[in-house]
Amino acid sequence: MTEAALTRRTFAIISHPDAGKTTLTEKLLLNGGAIHLAGEVKARGQARRARSDWMKIEQQRGISVTSSVMTFAREFEGLGQITFNLLDTPGHEDFSEDTYRTLTAVDSAIMVIDAAKGIEPQTRKLFEVCRLRNVPIITFINKVDREGRNVFETLDEVADALALDVCPMSWPVGMGGVFEGILNLANGRVSRPEGDSREFLGKVDDNPVLPPEVADEVELAGVGYPEFDLEAYRNGDLTPVFFGSALKGFGVAELIEAIARIAPPPRAQPSAQGMIEPDLSEVTGFIFKVQANMDPQHRDRIAFMRLVSGTFKRGMKLTPSGLGKPIAIHSPILFFAQDREIADSAEPGDIIGIPNHGTLRVGDTLSEKNEVRFTGLPNFAPEILRRVALKDPTKTKQLRKALDDLSEEGVIQVFYPEIGGQWIVGVVGQLQLEVLISRLDAEYKVAAGLETAPFDTARWVKGSDAAMRDFLDFNKANLAKDRDGDPVFMARSSWDVSYQQERHPDLTFSAIKER
Ligand code: G4P
Repeated sequence: MTEAALTRRTFAIISHPDAGKTTLTEKLLLNGGAIHLAGEVKARGQARRARSDWMKIEQQRGISVTSSVMTFAREFEGLGQITFNLLDTPGHEDFSEDTYRTLTAVDSAIMVIDAAKGIEPQTRKLFEVCRLRNVPIITFINKVDREGRNVFETLDEVADALALDVCPMSWPVGMGGVFEGILNLANGRVSRPEGDSREFLGKVDDNPVLPPEVADEVELAGVGYPEFDLEAYRNGDLTPVFFGSALKGFGVAELIEAIARIAPPPRAQPSAQGMIEPDLSEVTGFIFKVQANMDPQHRDRIAFMRLVSGTFKRGMKLTPSGLGKPIAIHSPILFFAQDREIADSAEPGDIIGIPNHGTLRVGDTLSEKNEVRFTGLPNFAPEILRRVALKDPTKTKQLRKALDDLSEEGVIQVFYPEIGGQWIVGVVGQLQLEVLISRLDAEYKVAAGLETAPFDTARWVKGSDAAMRDFLDFNKANLAKDRDGDPVFMARSSWDVSYQQERHPDLTFSAIKER
């Protein structure tokens, strides 16, 4: 792998809402030298939130529904400068599809768990998504400064819930009772929160503030869990566990050090032409997210590209697979904690934003030679379907544009029925519908409501021309086209799907559509 690629760590933080992801992100950025004052991530978040109703939903519910990218770099002894690309994921389960796509663009993940609450169902689901994507996980058990549970129980629960080996890398002394500090199991040193600074209290043995039972705990921990094994971690069979408090800012330095030292550098990505390794000299990448109207003043639209191979240079011509002809990328954006900057170059693992007017789509491959097609970015069949009812019929055009944009972003999926003019939106969770209505209003000035649709689920249909013709002729009333014009069977029930599948064995009815 090229020297530059080896210095990249592209990762996401996944957690249940409220576990402390925002606080931890802020402390990682502080620790990485990206921001200088605690509170800036939140302040920035609030300034942004104030701008649209859609963001208001986030604020009211205290959740984050958008993904963003933050890049920062820091020196580490013996490693040199490491560049971190932190991809934010929505915490809410209604946005698991968005999270799934984000996880296609990372090489590892940090799973944040609230020490008092343990593993919640949502966290488990996110974990399963990581598994599907072969993303190795470092676990950060947060809020150890509060009254919590027993450390051994917490570790065993993580191991059970995730069916993984757990390997404690640090030990929270006094967690569950009076918290004393974090013991680094590698060097035996204890750090203790002291305001915002960290004070080392020396080795366990001769430490005046540590209760005597700590030595016993540490001994038990030493025999009760497997030793850290880099390969097992990178294979996804073992999760190293760090303890800390994002709020008080300790345990975070150890975490960032671990990301630098053990988290994997850019990995190869699957394509129709085989695995594409980061050291391929041709520049290739794929779009994993498109966000419209990031800045409502400018109606901009940014496609986020994960660079897979080669060294990207500003102004380079790349061919998007969806377009077939090259485009020159003059203003690629790098995202920092507080700023966006034009990127002069980027390496495998880096994420660049490409401003465009709708030419770039989620799932597109961009490459110099236009020979590679990355695979593995799916659409999932929606679980809730609704008809969109326009309050002002003269706004049909704006509605269509909005539905196309928002389906591209992955907020919703849209289906245009073969018969009748009422468009149908599909989502995985209820919250997406609320986001849809408020964004239609705030960003597109379209007042719309939602009505129940006579369908329960949708399946993408594929087959030979003859088989398709036969099916289409008989089922017109239950057919729609998705945003790409691909045929979708709108089913009244899952029974309906099985029935059609039995009647038409030559066709496939798929709940997932690869982009
Ligand atoms: P999220 O992004 O995962 O949803 O969580 P967030 O960071 O917003 O944290 C959720 C709450 O937990 C916040 O409190 C935050 O201050 C608190 N918190 C985060 N890390 C720690 C920690 O290590 N120890 C303790 N004791 N609390 C922590 P809040 O009251 O909801 O918000 P705020 O009033 O602090 O803004």
